[in-house]
Amino acid sequence: MAMPLTAVLRTPAAEAVVAFALLLIAAVALKLVLLWRKLPRSGRSSEERRKKMYAPVAGTVFHHLLNYRRLYDFSTTCARQNPTYRILSPFHSEVYTADPANVEYILKTNFTNYGKGDYNYCTLKDLLGDGIFAVDGEKWWHQRKIASLVFSKRIFREYSSIVFRGNALKLVSVIAQAAGSNSRMDIQDIFMKSSMDSIFQVAFGVELNSLSGSNEEERKFTEAFDDANVLICWRYVDPLWKMKKFLNCGCEAELKNRLKVVDDFVYKILAHKVSQSSKQLQKEDILSRLLNEREQDPKNITYQYLRDITLNFLVAGRDSAAVTLSWFFYRLCLHASIEEKVVREVNAVTKLIHHDAPMLWMYLQQV
Ligand SMILES: *[C@@H]1O[C@H](CO)[C@@H](O)[C@H](O)[C@H]1NC(C)=O
Ligand SMILES: *[C@@H]1O[C@H](CO)[C@@H](O)[C@H](O)[C@H]1NC(C)=O
Repeated sequence: MAMPLTAVLRTPAAEAVVAFALLLIAAVALKLVLLWRKLPRSGRSSEERRKKMYAPVAGTVFHHLLNYRRLYDFSTTCARQNPTYRILSPFHSEVYTADPANVEYILKTNFTNYGKGDYNYCTLKDLLGDGIFAVDGEKWWHQRKIASLVFSKRIFREYSSIVFRGNALKLVSVIAQAAGSNSRMDIQDIFMKSSMDSIFQVAFGVELNSLSGSNEEERKFTEAFDDANVLICWRYVDPLWKMKKFLNCGCEAELKNRLKVVDDFVYKILAHKVSQSSKQLQKEDILSRLLNEREQDPKNITYQYLRDITLNFLVAGRDSAAVTLSWFFYRLCLHASIEEKVVREVNAVTKLIHHDAPMLWMYLQQV
């Protein structure tokens, strides 16, 4: 799951101070443990082996907390020094890598060795449930199979390209309006909303309209979903989150409240879909396909599992597209000559749409 760039620290100052103090203690304790480990105990050769087997330490979770609002910059700096490095936490350590060989090994060569594990499952479960971003093993394979089945269907591809085109048109009109009146806009926010509208329609078969913000209930869902994403990510740097959840206070109380809004909305759509499914309405979207699967396997595919799968699709489809587009335009703004080239190419291609369809098809296959 991509952490939103606009992630805002929501915790009240008091909570942050307590968390800082606790982490400080943890960092000192860790330092002591490391010092103790450095004392010669079992000969030099094993010490050398240990050094070889572990990536260098770039910092602790404390550094992540300090750099929370510039986490990508912090990670980039670390990766420039060592492409593969470790971040230490009080109870575990995390390995980060920007080395393509390692990425290939982890994602392909020996994929099964690199599960998300209980730690991530436990942290993300309240939002992602048993969705593909939180689970390993059988459930992961099951959902991957469902996804590839859905995405390979021609009817689904046609449906989704109609949805994406329709929402792109809406996006263009919003941007054209802002450009016409020379007013400022938060391009990432607009991309997030537009991608959300597309992926939501593809996933649930109903329109969300978050870009226009016309419907109160839909707007509340989008806001709650955003907040829940931010608050879940915060757990990674807050050692007290479990306690806060237990006591139902601070950002955990807020998260619970936000999740309820998300769940109520999703389950309402689910119930609506189920009541309509016999009438053969909108069979192209992901949820309808899953409901079909459910008829064959009602024990494994519960309503909660359906909620989890579809919400994970939302995260996957929205953030990746919106953040990539935002970065693309950010980089474009820094390079005027490239911007010109892109404009020229777009103009040339849009002319093809009316005059030379086969040429356009060849072009699309090349990009
Ligand atoms: C994959 O992992 C296993 C177990 O950790 C190891 O024995 C095997 O050598 C690895 N495979 C490759 C191709 O590195
Ligand atoms: C249902 O789930 C169980 C346990 O996870 C699994 O063994 C079984 O194969 C699943 N059934 C189907 C049809 O996927």
